[in-house]
Amino acid sequence: RETFDGNDNIGAGGEPQQQAQANHPPLTTQQGIVVADNQNSLADAKHGATLLEDFILREKITHFDHERIPERVVHARGSAAHGYFVLTDSLSGFTTAKVLTETGRRIPVFARFSTVAGGAGSVDTPRDVRGFAVKLYTEEGNWDLVGNNIPVFFIQDAMKFPDLVHALKMEPDRAFPQAAPAHDTFWDLISLMPESMHMVMWIMSDRTLPRSLRMMEGFGIHSFRLVNAEGRSTYVKFHWRPALGVQSTVWDEALKLQAADNDYHRRDLFEAIEAGAFPAWDLCVQLFTEEQAQTLPFDHLDPTKIIPEELIALRRIGQMVLDRWPDNFFAETEQVAFCPANVPPGIDFTNDPLLQGRLFSYLDTQLLRLGGPNFAQLPINAPQCPFANNQRDGHMQTQRPHGRVAYEPSSLQADSPRACRATGFRHFAQAAPTGTKGRLRPESFADHYSQARMFYRSQDTVEQSHLASALVFELSKVETAHVRMAMVSHLLVIDEDLGKRVAQGLGISPLPRPAEPAMPVLNLDPSPATTLIGRM
Ligand code: HEM
Repeated sequence: RETFDGNDNIGAGGEPQQQAQANHPPLTTQQGIVVADNQNSLADAKHGATLLEDFILREKITHFDHERIPERVVHARGSAAHGYFVLTDSLSGFTTAKVLTETGRRIPVFARFSTVAGGAGSVDTPRDVRGFAVKLYTEEGNWDLVGNNIPVFFIQDAMKFPDLVHALKMEPDRAFPQAAPAHDTFWDLISLMPESMHMVMWIMSDRTLPRSLRMMEGFGIHSFRLVNAEGRSTYVKFHWRPALGVQSTVWDEALKLQAADNDYHRRDLFEAIEAGAFPAWDLCVQLFTEEQAQTLPFDHLDPTKIIPEELIALRRIGQMVLDRWPDNFFAETEQVAFCPANVPPGIDFTNDPLLQGRLFSYLDTQLLRLGGPNFAQLPINAPQCPFANNQRDGHMQTQRPHGRVAYEPSSLQADSPRACRATGFRHFAQAAPTGTKGRLRPESFADHYSQARMFYRSQDTVEQSHLASALVFELSKVETAHVRMAMVSHLLVIDEDLGKRVAQGLGISPLPRPAEPAMPVLNLDPSPATTLIGRM
């Protein structure tokens, strides 16, 4: 909208000319005091000293000084949009969650896509995992599906997450690289952590060079539970599938795009939404029982494993459409707080040890990042259903609870909130495993190479050569020879030809001894002919 009114200069004496009029309301301080002059600070004379008395200057500068908040410790760079989700296939019988049982309703959503390693001001197109976080404002409270565009993760236990992130982000002494895995500390840790090998295959594939945020899959990764009215649990994995299909750039394109436009993905998403080409994703689920889980050749509670769709087929249950760009980047994209612990009744967690750690970490970090315990009151985070509790006070309390009662049980106030057995969240009554307490990892988590091999061999020859070239490029930036050697020894186990190609690209000869897997490496068949064990 044109706002120029030919009145934008300050006068000869420095007096402001732009003044409030018809469409331009008076400018005020935070206290509502109308400002007469927004150009000049208060001085004791022309050429005189600025006076401390100038409350308008002090308030303006103080607010500006406090504009930055800590960026996310990971996934700092992101772009987001509003939209809606519509369920088309009810999962009643599996869950009580209305968002998964009541078809045809428009549930508001806010989705944020991010890179992982770079800071908030970094570029959009490095080789990196992309975050895929969706907040669904359901009538039973917020459901946050906080996933990535890759269906597995680097580590099996949250205990290792700080190490992973410290190794991945810029090195603390030299402060580079700012947004890429091409450096010693990352590959040092990875080479000592065979559980990462499956993820390494995915991140070195074209998946980490998405052509557009609109063309990425999203994965909830962990097995979650659906819980029905009888308290019966069914395992579920969540998948978002883009209507535009999965598309990637090749490395050379990514490099050129990065040089030409640091905001390539953000601009693309913005322009698509502004043009009415609303991006859409199908929500699909893999549903399976405890008995089916027991027949899988790997442990589904290990987040470095997928369940191949050839074994448990995807069931499409609804669609998400993003149709509105945020009004304000800071208020919405920056202040949104996703947390995997936000689930409505009828959805529950599993004992995946990575998920268990995440359930703690997000709220904890947001208490710091968003300045205290009331960030859920921010409009982007607040539920869009009635909510009331006895929590009170704290930094930036914006609500005005009434009455004397902020406790329960109570008898003094007719409208104080009370727990509700009929509609309240109930945890699945899982039988506790037997055993002795300890820092323990199941033996079934010990196969680190079979699915890495399966992924590599599921790629066509062009994709395999991209993957090998990516490894050569990334590892060629690693200065420490034994780290490069260690990685080649893992690759030789995943696929001998891949290991040899990368060794040749790096000029490594003779070949190192292959790594020694803790368990025999399976030749899992990724072809669609594999027997389905279930579609529920
Ligand atoms: C942020 C995904 C593992 C801690 C994020 C975000 C995503 C994400 C998408 C950005 C959310 C946004 O857009 O605001 C994942 C996935 C994981 C994983 C898919 C594994 C399956 C972990 C683990 C931890 C962790 C194991 C810690 C134990 C964090 C923290 C943030 C974050 C602290 C910043 C949150 C904020 O400041 O709001 N993660 N993450 N993540 N993640 Fe994870």
